[in-house]
Amino acid sequence: MTNYSELYHSKLTTAAELASRVESGWTLGMDAALAQTPAIMSALAERAGRDELSGVKVQTLLDVYPFEFYADNVLSGKLNGVSWFSSGGARKAVNGGYADFIPSYYRDIPGLIRSFYEYDAFCVSVSPMDKHGYFSLATTSSYSQAMLGKARRVFVEVNKYQPRAVCGMQIHVSQVDAIVEHDAPLPELPPVKLDEVSVTIGNLIAEQIPDGACIQLGIGAIPDATGMALKAKHDLGIHTEMFTDSMVELLACGAVNNSKKQIHPGKSVTTFAYGSKRIYDYIDDNPAIEILPVDYVNDPNVICQNDNMISINAALEVDLWGQVCAESVGTKHMSGSGGQIDYVRGACQSKGGKSFIAFSSTAKGGTISKIKPILTPGAVCTTSKNDVDYIVTEYGLAHLRGHSLAQRAKQLIAIAHPDFRDELTFEAKKRGIMI
Ligand code: COA
Repeated sequence: MTNYSELYHSKLTTAAELASRVESGWTLGMDAALAQTPAIMSALAERAGRDELSGVKVQTLLDVYPFEFYADNVLSGKLNGVSWFSSGGARKAVNGGYADFIPSYYRDIPGLIRSFYEYDAFCVSVSPMDKHGYFSLATTSSYSQAMLGKARRVFVEVNKYQPRAVCGMQIHVSQVDAIVEHDAPLPELPPVKLDEVSVTIGNLIAEQIPDGACIQLGIGAIPDATGMALKAKHDLGIHTEMFTDSMVELLACGAVNNSKKQIHPGKSVTTFAYGSKRIYDYIDDNPAIEILPVDYVNDPNVICQNDNMISINAALEVDLWGQVCAESVGTKHMSGSGGQIDYVRGACQSKGGKSFIAFSSTAKGGTISKIKPILTPGAVCTTSKNDVDYIVTEYGLAHLRGHSLAQRAKQLIAIAHPDFRDELTFEAKKRGIMI
């Protein structure tokens, strides 16, 4: 029998030595959130800072570490990030003109990688090797399988704080070119502040969710507040892109037991997890959660197989036709499409399913209405008027799917902040959509 420990030690190196193997012009790939490799990236940034590298590109999705190549533009041209879905660092860098962005539906990323990309190295953070020589990819499956298939080398960063997902992706030590050990507590999302508006919206949506429903919760305070409003429900299931803290809470209080799901009964299904240590502890060695590739998890034809599928996502603005922008404020880049459309479509195709796009009626201290006559020039339309189902604010619900432009405009104006309703009505009449 192979001595995996010997193989492991033969590949073990330091982040600095590994970074010295990287050559100018390389493309590196990393998967979402906690799959990313902070020690390897810092060592690379140091080399780039010493002018030893040029033209190195690193693909990321939802960066959760303060990567130097996103922090400011001093490494630009030497080491640049390319984001599939921006959060903090990448958002700043894309707007600053020193990082690039690849528009995509999250479910399509594995296919896009297989069709269009090659990687000089796939860098991934893993939990410690088991006795059979396998590393668990811990909290993320997403597009790792696809990147692995298109990578010339695999660099793993072993972190003892990474949970071991028994129903998630694994990499064998024989597939790995180099190993770096870097034990550091995992980044955590700060707990979401549940303000009055989020709680009101959460409760409005919760009223629409029957016992036995299967839920997806997106990114942001409102999806989280809705999760917390579901604690009195029974027999809920989870089929989601991102596994969140409110989901662990729903499992702990018994509202979720996954018993009524048509596919993966008894199990929560996700493609990555990110939140607090409570989530990471829940995942560790737990066969009740399956962390699977995003081209399966986010496929609307898979999502819709669970009856009463409910998706809850956030947005930045919506126009009177029901076009939803969740990615930019005008031309200012904020985010990516992620799985929003995947879940809107999957939920709407599910028997008894519903999709909710929810947000507070105003932004910037009440000075801006998020319901607008037209999207702000330059805004990205994330969910189209043909896909949208329910829009929710603290003033109520608007059901747009199957409804005419005039019906949509009336319903949306009724849930806009009262300070903006006259102006919205005036604009709607001017455009002839208030018949
Ligand atoms: N005009 C101007 N500014 C606006 C605005 C508007 N219409 N709407 C929001 N903002 C500002 C907020 O004031 C806030 O500014 P701040 O950072 O200075 O406080 C910022 O934009 C973020 O808004 P907020 O409402 O707090 O965002 P959020 O954290 O709830 O996230 C999305 C909302 C849309 C960015 C987030 O859900 C997302 O990334 N979606 C992507 C697509 C998706 O839904 N994917 C599903 C994933 S699982």
